[in-house]
Amino acid sequence: MTEVDRLMDFIDLKAQQARIRNDIDRRIAAVLDHGLYIMGPELVELESLLADYVGSRHVIGVSSGTDSLLMALMALEIGPGDEVITVPYTWISTAEVIGLVGATPVFVDIDPVIWNMDPELVRASITEKTKAIMPVGIYGQTSDMAAINRIAKEMGDIPVIEDAAQSFGATHHGKRSGGLATIGSTSFFPSKPLGGYGDGGAIFTDDDELAERMRWIRLHGQEKRDHHPVLGINGRLDSIQAAVVIAKMAIFDEEIVMRQRVAERYSEVLANAGVELPKVAEGNTSVYAQYTILSENRDQIQAVLSQAEIPSVKYYSVPLHLQPVFSNLGHREGDFPMTEKIASLGLSLPMSPYVSWEDQERLGAAISRL
Ligand SMILES: Cc1ncc(COP(=O)(O)O)c(C=O)c1O
Repeated sequence: MTEVDRLMDFIDLKAQQARIRNDIDRRIAAVLDHGLYIMGPELVELESLLADYVGSRHVIGVSSGTDSLLMALMALEIGPGDEVITVPYTWISTAEVIGLVGATPVFVDIDPVIWNMDPELVRASITEKTKAIMPVGIYGQTSDMAAINRIAKEMGDIPVIEDAAQSFGATHHGKRSGGLATIGSTSFFPSKPLGGYGDGGAIFTDDDELAERMRWIRLHGQEKRDHHPVLGINGRLDSIQAAVVIAKMAIFDEEIVMRQRVAERYSEVLANAGVELPKVAEGNTSVYAQYTILSENRDQIQAVLSQAEIPSVKYYSVPLHLQPVFSNLGHREGDFPMTEKIASLGLSLPMSPYVSWEDQERLGAAISRL
């Protein structure tokens, strides 16, 4: 190492662990003591904490943020011949689950300001086969959920599934992400704003019938012992993961403020660096799952950062409509210009509540030297 005396993490989970290690140890020890490793009391406690946090009638803790989206589609009985509208600028899970239930993903482009689903394009893509709309809160803030919900309602009460894996903790007109649609979904993948120490996720809904069905689906379609009315999966959340997420929830709101402060400092140190900085839409707050800049020189910037031992990532540089797995949809380069633009210019910088001021200054100085 040269001018750095320690490596900078892309996502620093160690600093967080140091703060809450005792609580995590205590909660994991409690699981080891009671031995209810699956569907134990920690799951019930976490579901109740999350319901209060989001303001949702029902919360179902599940095995991952991918399984939660899959279970949402299964509960809505979406399958072959059906269409689900989503965006091509997202992690592959969002569209993958549509294919897994045999339905067709219908991509619409993202907006130029916050890089989320463009509501007006949704309206134009709705057909009689449209059975759901799946917006994603990319990089930490929600889509214009108010507009998307309005369009879904006008066009025949189409269910909306909010993929809040990255935006959990953010608000849209004062209401928390995860609770903004017919069904909300989040992920507890370790690097997410609210992550565990393994795979996990949660589903949110105010609809009693859908909630019951999703509880069945989480447990192999089981309504009660020896009775399986629908097909399900093994979609359960382990007690140990629930225990870890409970411990992290105690500091989550404080960490969101810390993330927002880190983002503000980035915008200061990069103000004159000749790169485009991320924006937050009016009515939104962001939890900055990522802090992503746009630049025509992103390869050069990445090289300079790498020399300074600062990690950075080009997320979704091949958008979903150009992935071989979706070649049957017949898309070509140029079909979704805004997605392709952000995919080719976006560079995500180290982000966590614990990024230090010195590291940010070092990063700003490295980029400004270009
Ligand atoms: C937007 C989005 N959707 C879904 C997922 C899937 O979550 P998981 O990794 O828990 O399956 C992720 C994260 O990985 C994501 O970023």
